Amino acid sequence: MRSLRVLFVTPEVEPFVKVGGLADMVGALPKELAALGLDVRVVCPLYGATKRVGEWRERAEPLGVDVGPEARWAKVWETTLPGAAVPAYFIEHDWFFARSEVYSEQGDNAHRFVFFSRAALALCQQLEWIPDVIHCHDWTVGLVPVFLNTTLRGTPLARAATVFTIHNLEHQGYADTGVVSYARLPWSEFRADSLESYGRVNLMKAGLYHSTKLTTVSPTYAQEIRTAAGGFGLDHVLRFRAGDLVGILNGIDAVSWNPATDKSLPANYSAADLAGKAVCKAALQKELGLAPDPRVPLFGVVSRFASQKGLDLLAEALPRVLERMDVQFALLGSGDARLEEFFRHVPALYPGRIGTHVGFNGHLSRLVQGGSDVFVMPSRSEPCGLTQMYAMRYGTPPLVRATGGLVDTVENYVEGGDAGTGFVFNDATAGALADTIGWACATYYDRPAEFAGLQQRGMAKDFSWRGSAQHFAELYGWAVEARTGQRHV
Ligand code: ADP
Ligand code: GLC
Repeated sequence: MRSLRVLFVTPEVEPFVKVGGLADMVGALPKELAALGLDVRVVCPLYGATKRVGEWRERAEPLGVDVGPEARWAKVWETTLPGAAVPAYFIEHDWFFARSEVYSEQGDNAHRFVFFSRAALALCQQLEWIPDVIHCHDWTVGLVPVFLNTTLRGTPLARAATVFTIHNLEHQGYADTGVVSYARLPWSEFRADSLESYGRVNLMKAGLYHSTKLTTVSPTYAQEIRTAAGGFGLDHVLRFRAGDLVGILNGIDAVSWNPATDKSLPANYSAADLAGKAVCKAALQKELGLAPDPRVPLFGVVSRFASQKGLDLLAEALPRVLERMDVQFALLGSGDARLEEFFRHVPALYPGRIGTHVGFNGHLSRLVQGGSDVFVMPSRSEPCGLTQMYAMRYGTPPLVRATGGLVDTVENYVEGGDAGTGFVFNDATAGALADTIGWACATYYDRPAEFAGLQQRGMAKDFSWRGSAQHFAELYGWAVEARTGQRHV
């Protein structure tokens, strides 16, 4: 049997370019699928900020991309995902991608990513490598399945089934109607069950209607997005396609995220011997200007500063928490300008008790995971969330709001019992968050054996990709059958 061919089309991939967890997923899942025997490849734009990790080779032939009034040309670079024989292609086109941001503020994201989507398909044709499945990630590549169903219909490439993964339904990619002709799509596609939404183009919606199968990143989120409360205006589409939508929980790259081997930590440790964790805590306190106190519970945050993540709730809760409890905070994040400003200035008000680093720093994120006692994630909505899984693996019980993937990955602590991996609260309010921080704080001080039980159970969890990769392999098979009427043999 020929290996099933799968192409990941993505705006981000770790370790080359990352904004959030989408990059982690796309950097890790293909390796597991390759280990299962699939022929997997990845294609991503080449941004100004992309890190050229490993060996890179420029492909000799330029790539013609059929968008806009006249053909545009791109250059293609080829490398592999580190530690695996998974080819990764990067599309170079300076006009759209030489800038450093992945998601640009310049108002041309739809054109940039429509260009990229069409380029990814042109690449398959140029390589004469026709995928059985094209796996698309989030709104940027929503037109990939549309091209296959329209302008490429009848070509060998159009036999490819499409799987579309929703990483975050909140970002849908609204664009002006000019993008229809730019994409060279027929105007007949500008209708409510294809591209159109409120008189504009919605790239995510197009992807949801045109893909063979849909997935999202946790079972609970798959339920939430079918409801008016959690559907971000697209719940009707997801109910319409409910039979083709599955929630498959993200895994983590358990080789990269391992406290026993992580080179970013000043000392390594494991569930059997947590001594190194105290060294990490001391290093984190030093790094962020916190009082060097091994006894005080240290609450850590690593997050994008976005309303989705609920950090405004933390900002509101902090004064009452710091006034009433003997605790410390270590924060790493960036995003929303007002939150950045707040978290930059708040340490001066509570010297030695709260330390922040505004920015994106992979090395420090690992030190926060390893050096904190409790990991705080008060998300309003969370499709999956990876950081709470990293925290558990690093012996740092997460404190989370019960939403989306946080429900599927964190089990609430029961006092006096021997179950649970973290602290869970329900209401998206500063009060509920402050109370739960108080509960975690009391557990840390007064019930150290139970706190240690939370750590041990979290560290024992298997969050690796193995199970979910199997699930994807099976789903790809269903997608091929649905698209072609034939099983892959
Ligand atoms: P999301 O994708 O919504 O941001 P996830 O929890 O799925 O949330 O993934 C976030 C990823 O980005 C994690 O790998 C996390 O470590 C990383 N990350 C977030 N903020 C920062 C930061 N300021 N510095 C370094 N890494 C960060
Ligand atoms: C999105 C979501 C996050 C998820 C990640 C990877 O960024 O916000 O919850 O873990 O995608 O799928």
